[in-house]
Order: sequence, then C-alpha cells, then structure tokens
Amino acid sequence: MKLFVLGDVVSRVGLEAVERCLPALKRKYRPDCIIINGENSAIGNGIDRLSAERLFHAGADCITGGNHSFQRKEAGELHEEMPALLRPANWSGDPFGKGEYRMDMGAYDLRVISLQGTLYMNKCENPFTTLEKMLEEGGPRDLTIVDFHAEATAEKQAMGWHFDGRVALVFGTHTHVQTNDARILPKGTGYLSDVGMCGSRDSILGKGLEPCIHNFIDPENRMKITDGEPPCIINGLLADLDEKAKKCRSLELINIQETD
Ligand SMILES: [Fe+2]
Repeated sequence: MKLFVLGDVVSRVGLEAVERCLPALKRKYRPDCIIINGENSAIGNGIDRLSAERLFHAGADCITGGNHSFQRKEAGELHEEMPALLRPANWSGDPFGKGEYRMDMGAYDLRVISLQGTLYMNKCENPFTTLEKMLEEGGPRDLTIVDFHAEATAEKQAMGWHFDGRVALVFGTHTHVQTNDARILPKGTGYLSDVGMCGSRDSILGKGLEPCIHNFIDPENRMKITDGEPPCIINGLLADLDEKAKKCRSLELINIQETD
C-alpha cells in the first residue's frame, strides 16, 4: 500500500499550501492513505476546528499531533469529536482524545500511532514503553506506522532501531526541517528522522524572518513572532508498505519548493 505523509503544517500559510499542492500530488502518487501532522495548522500555532476540517477536506485520512495539540481552547472537544485527529499517545494524565487511529483497509488494519519525544519537549510518559504496551495490545491484522514528534534526532533514531521489524514505518516530525536519512532498517522498518514542514519557504521554521532573527540578536527586547509568507515548501514522505509482511518496501522524499 502507498502511504503519503506530509510534515508539520505551519499556520494558515502552510495550510493553504497543502490545499494548493495536494490535489496534484494525489494524482501523481495515488496514495491509499494520507497522514498529515497538523498540530500547528491553526493561525499562530495549535490546531483548531477550521484547520482540522480544512486538512481533512484537503485529503488527510488521519491528522497526527504533538506538543501543540492542545494549544487551542477548543482542542479538547475537537479531539473527542474527531477520532482521526490524534494527540500523542504518551501524554500524561487522562487527556482528551486518542493517540491511535485504526483504518480498516480490507485485508488489514492500518494503525496510525502518534507519539511525542521526551528530550527538550514538554513532559510526557516514556514513548518507548508506551509503544511497547500498545503493540502488545495489537493484533496480526495491524500494519502499524508511528509519527514520532520529537526534537532530538538521537531519540528518533533510538525509536526506529528499537522497534525495527515490529512496526512498518517510523517517521519523525516537529523540527520542520526534512532530513536526508530515509532508509529501510535491517528488519524491514522504514525510517526517516524528520519529514520536514509545509510552510513558508523563506522563514525560520515557518515563522517570519525578521522577528526570529531579531530575538536571537536582542533577546532582551523581543519582537512578536509572526507567520511566514508564501511561497511555501511542501515536505513529505511516500512509503510503499507491504501489508502482508508488515514491512516497508521503499521510501521517497517529497520536497517541493514553490517559486515566487
Ligand atoms: Fe511540534
């Protein structure tokens, strides 16, 4: 099966870029399923009703989460209401919504799991033991893929290697910069440290250049961070997964740079 993943959608600018580009990408790659990391698709950050609805309408079968999943007031209710909108499964306490979504694909279930890292991130439960437990609760029909929303590449690599052969795909999100390390690990798990982002091309992680640079130079007199402007980049990952063997056959990076 062909799975198409889009990296972190950054603000309205990124959301509109996804809406612009996804129809042609769907025609070109004909994916069976589209996963989009949408935790920052609302204006500013977080995810709200409008951005979630627009991402689903654009073609997302499942929206994965991260540290900003509950930034917006309405997000709790939204996650309860929309089963295909995920927050990280390893969030502490008893948060709204779920960290996994199952799609019945006929002969198998596509099981999408959203997890968050612990290094340089807000506090959450251990993602390794959380996934271990979730896999124990899974079944033979499961074709499992993991969005590991994490800052540290080491933690992402550890996740890929530790679960090699037990899930079909581990891809990272959160850093907004696409990495060039897509590979199939020895026991058949597809791995990529970070898918990248869908957002402003000439920006700092999707945000306006001027305030971001200023705040590094003069941190005592901070400027308000603004959203970046179009044109945009669209970063994605196309994975061909073997639903019988529950492994990854091939990976292809997508990196579209819009022009002025
Ligand atoms: Fe994030």
